[in-house]
Amino acid sequence: MKTLISTIEFNSLGDERGGLVSLEANENIPFSIKRVYYIFGSKAGIARGFHAHKKLKQVAIAVSGSCRFIIDDGQFKESKVLSSPTEGLLIDSCVWREMHDFSHDCVLMVLASDYYDEADYIRNYQDFLKIMRK
Ligand code: TYD
Repeated sequence: MKTLISTIEFNSLGDERGGLVSLEANENIPFSIKRVYYIFGSKAGIARGFHAHKKLKQVAIAVSGSCRFIIDDGQFKESKVLSSPTEGLLIDSCVWREMHDFSHDCVLMVLASDYYDEADYIRNYQDFLKIMRK
């Protein structure tokens, strides 16, 4: 069975002073990074995401705390807890994503292959299924 969860383990350049991770476009991040955003201070019990992208690729990293992703290709769904600043979740285009179970201290950083473009979003799950089943 095809796996929907693809993770990248980043080298930790930390030493006795603490941790350090370096992210480089087209090196340990498999695209040219055009945008970075982060989600923080998420309220207890909220969930986010609930969309797919037509073209955008992203890598999500819980630089602090943890949250749980659901990745769904319209046929299968998989769940993945992100809880390490040295692990990135590669989110390809054309997958539905949801984020749940944010810890109070979660800072979820997302690297994106393009600028923000609402036209690239599929925000309705039924529309997503129709596109995926074409
Ligand atoms: P939204 O898509 O609801 O976030 P999530 O998928 O994490 O639940 O985004 C919230 C708002 O922020 C929405 O009005 C779009 C806007 N936004 C930007 O302007 N730029 C961005 O890079 C992102 C991710 C969102």
